[in-house]
Amino acid sequence: MIPTPDLSHLTKVDYDRVYEPAEDTFLFLDGLEQDAEHIRSLHPTVCLEIGSGSGCVSTFMGSILGPTGALYLCTDINQHAARCTVATGRQNKIPIDAINCSLTSSLLPRLRHSIDILLFNPPYVPTDGEEALDAQASGNISGAWAGGLSGMEITNKLLEEVNDLLSPKGLFYLVALKQNDIPAICAMMQDAFGLKSQTIIQRRAGREHLFILRFERQYVG
Ligand SMILES: C[S@@+](CC[C@H](N)C(=O)[O-])C[C@H]1O[C@@H](n2cnc3c(N)ncnc32)[C@H](O)[C@@H]1O
Repeated sequence: MIPTPDLSHLTKVDYDRVYEPAEDTFLFLDGLEQDAEHIRSLHPTVCLEIGSGSGCVSTFMGSILGPTGALYLCTDINQHAARCTVATGRQNKIPIDAINCSLTSSLLPRLRHSIDILLFNPPYVPTDGEEALDAQASGNISGAWAGGLSGMEITNKLLEEVNDLLSPKGLFYLVALKQNDIPAICAMMQDAFGLKSQTIIQRRAGREHLFILRFERQYVG
């Protein structure tokens, strides 16, 4: 069993400003643990998490692959999240580089087709579009959940970049809610980019029905 990262260095003051790991985060860890052998077998060298928040997920990935097993990169629009991510890595002896930016704005085109493991637990809660725009502009904790129309406004922006980011063997893991319309997400990724998808784990948590989806290139032959 892969241990849940030690988060004892984070305090209520941190969680006033940064998303506190919750059911979605823990389902993400469970899905990655279930896929750990598959992930290791690909010998990934570059992992990128978008929206790393506390840093819990990338630190967990560091436990799967080892502290020197890969380069761990994270982005977040919330500058406090970037600090917490680095601190969580340090607390668990996983070196993580965190960048305070939106999605991949500071990484593309340099890292084109270089990401072996791409992770995103996005702001997925359906809200009105203006709330999502304000949350994105503020870079504060509201950006952790406000997802705009169908909860997909931020996720859709990343989906457009996934094919450019992934290496030939790359895997993309995404957290989604049932209301995000998972069949439509999977159909779009298949039709637009030829990326096949699979639900690796799902769970009901209160009113939310959460899914962890995995996307990868489809090789025929
Ligand atoms: C649901 S929280 C997930 C946090 C953490 N990965 C976890 O699983 O606990 C979503 C995170 O995405 C970040 N975020 C929202 N919009 C973003 C954007 N455009 N670019 C980068 N990060 C973003 C938020 O600040 C927040 O930290």
